[in-house]
Amino acid sequence: MCLKLNPDEIKKYRKAGIIARRALNKAKEVCDQGVPYLKVAEEAERTIYKHGAKPAFPMNISVNSVGAHYTPIENDESEFKKGDLVKLDIGCHVDGYIADNALTVEIGTSRHTSLIKAAEEALGVAIRSIRPGMRTKDIGKNIENVINSRGFNPISNLTGHELKRNVLHAGTSIPNVSKGWTKIKKGMVLAIEPFATDGKGKVKEGGAGDIYRLEGQRNLKGEDLEFYEWAQKNFGSLPFAARWCGRYGEDHKSSLKRLRRFGAVMNYPVLVEKKKGLISQSEHTVIVTSKGCKVTTKLSQKD
Ligand code: CO
Repeated sequence: MCLKLNPDEIKKYRKAGIIARRALNKAKEVCDQGVPYLKVAEEAERTIYKHGAKPAFPMNISVNSVGAHYTPIENDESEFKKGDLVKLDIGCHVDGYIADNALTVEIGTSRHTSLIKAAEEALGVAIRSIRPGMRTKDIGKNIENVINSRGFNPISNLTGHELKRNVLHAGTSIPNVSKGWTKIKKGMVLAIEPFATDGKGKVKEGGAGDIYRLEGQRNLKGEDLEFYEWAQKNFGSLPFAARWCGRYGEDHKSSLKRLRRFGAVMNYPVLVEKKKGLISQSEHTVIVTSKGCKVTTKLSQKD
């Protein structure tokens, strides 16, 4: 199917895709009024492990005007409320081959169906339009057109991204507006994720989130080096949550704090809509083929 991916690699991307979708469906099923965010994240992440994959990043649960990078902390007490507009974003990998997918649900009301549909429809149009040789801005333009025609704004500073083995954001960005000259090539694996809003169409950094990623080792010593090496063995260069470090022991909190200070760990700030607009999101992972693309993040993967 793809020149640059061998059959074994394609098989792993597809396996990861099915598991990512299962986990997302599980999260959607559990997500309800009065249910803690933490329960949804834990159930989804458990589904990933149960099927033989590993999370590629902590599950993002982004409510209302939050766009990305919120994951529940250990003992998180937040619960879903009636009327919440919730983005569930889940990624997993099989032997480093990543699948990333997301959807939006509304808790107990149906006031934002058109906003949810705008992101879903934009994703569908983008996927159907993909051809090798087109530019990333052509995909972005398609997304932007659909979202605008529904009366909303695309979020211009949140993008989809190329995936490579063990790399979540591998160079090429897939914009949600007409930007970027990178050519789409057969064999590329892309996470496409339109975000629609009734706000300004931009996110800004809010407070610190609980998602981290290892950076350079920075001459760490002693217990800091020990924690760094443990994290490297468990997460590699993929994002991780502090709540995943409990297995390391109670020390992980102070180690994580020190590693951040030394620049050996980076933290992802929570991203919030600039005008506090509501945000919807829809995401699939695809493999670019000679004539179009194949979605990996769905349960049935017939050729
Ligand atoms: Co993504």
